[in-house]
Amino acid sequence: MTQVFSQMALGLSVYKLGYHRAAWRMPDFPQNAMMSLDAFTDAARAAEDAKFDFVFFADISAVENLENPARDISLEHYVVKLDPIVALSAISAVTSHIGLVGTVSTTYTPPYRIARQIASLDVISHGRAGWNVVTSYSPYERQNFGVEDISNIDARYARAHEAIDVVQGLWNSWDPDAFVADKTSGQYFDREKLSILGHEGDYFSVKGPLDVAPSPQGMPVMVSAGDSPWAREMAAKYANIQYAPTQGDLAKAQEYYRDIKSKAAGHGRDPRDLRILPGFMPIIGETDVEAAAKHRALKDLIHPKTGFGLLMPLFGDLSKHNLDTTLPRSLEPDPDHMRGFAKSFFDRAMAENWTIRQCYEHLADGEPWFMTMVGSAKSITDTLEEWFHCEAADGFNLLPDHMPGGFTDFVSLVLPDLRRRGLFRTEYSGTTLRERLRPNAKTLQ
Ligand SMILES: Cc1cc2nc3c(=O)[nH]c(=O)nc-3n(C[C@H](O)[C@H](O)[C@H](O)COP(=O)(O)O)c2cc1C
Repeated sequence: MTQVFSQMALGLSVYKLGYHRAAWRMPDFPQNAMMSLDAFTDAARAAEDAKFDFVFFADISAVENLENPARDISLEHYVVKLDPIVALSAISAVTSHIGLVGTVSTTYTPPYRIARQIASLDVISHGRAGWNVVTSYSPYERQNFGVEDISNIDARYARAHEAIDVVQGLWNSWDPDAFVADKTSGQYFDREKLSILGHEGDYFSVKGPLDVAPSPQGMPVMVSAGDSPWAREMAAKYANIQYAPTQGDLAKAQEYYRDIKSKAAGHGRDPRDLRILPGFMPIIGETDVEAAAKHRALKDLIHPKTGFGLLMPLFGDLSKHNLDTTLPRSLEPDPDHMRGFAKSFFDRAMAENWTIRQCYEHLADGEPWFMTMVGSAKSITDTLEEWFHCEAADGFNLLPDHMPGGFTDFVSLVLPDLRRRGLFRTEYSGTTLRERLRPNAKTLQ
């Protein structure tokens, strides 16, 4: 396969305003930032100044883990969050180039509402909207929407496919030139240029048309995430951006990349229509030593209760143990426990003589779906370049360890080098998010 893109796409994920567990305790993390529009607009403006492609709002519509004995959620900052589309609408008013990607679930939101919200965001932002489609795996959400069972993944994804078809059908309700608004004749729109969807399916009955005129992109950008066969198929069929859960494993990332691109080709799609972007959390210094010191500062802010909570699913309750003793050998887990993760983590802890504190510091670095990189700007830039050049990534979704410092470090330490290597833009071109993701492609009208 030849390289499809000459430059990376970069997104900034602002969901938690910091993906390290201790993010909110960093001195520069604004007080109560999760409920501060300023914190989000500042992040979006900074990303726009850096010429990023988009800001990204993930979403779970629930306070998770309220009664989970392993988690004391009173120590976590992302229990509260703004609704993505509301926040992005406000951000759209104070930015003019950056893409605005928001998560909306097909399990809990009817497709007409999704089509209307995202098209409205596209209109008010002049063509910068993206929809991150999720099927909602979290059991905590279903309790808020009166849904009994979400465990049937086939059904969740079948519903999502039908919802996407309906949403895209609604976005095609009007020809781009339907609204003549001819004051002389008195005709506002041309009836010939209106299509009524009339959808009757397994999950939805939606007549249409959409009561939003065609938005600047026509088709707002489609985004999805996930690793299972269902998620890969959805990406191959519909996504323009696939947020890849590749955990820093280059070989796995290449397999994932090739699989989704070839499935997309099977759907008759051009490989330039789909960007595969792994998530990554960098902790960056001018040197490796400086990066390690920044990492240490974050680790020192992990509350031990948070640490014990992280260890609980792997090894049970360790809160009676001394934090600075090594992980007891007697805790060796069953090889199948948590799909083998617990055992491989245990083996590493034994090999490297980790204390209980060091064990949870490792777990606090990340979640199973992104890679954490700690190192000098040069080593991080080298890794990004390697992944980009060897069919593992078409760019990245940056998950800062904390805001604003983690992002500022990326902009001042890594971005200049990426630009020197010709791997990232210095100026915006085109006007819509879709045009930027696929340079030289014409905007769908
Ligand atoms: C990188 C990444 C980001 C995700 N973001 C969200 C999100 O914001 N909201 C949500 O409900 N699910 C989110 N998910 C979950 C996926 O939509 C999917 O339900 C989950 O990954 C399980 O499917 P899988 O086994 O295919 O990965 C995300 C998954 C990944 C890998």
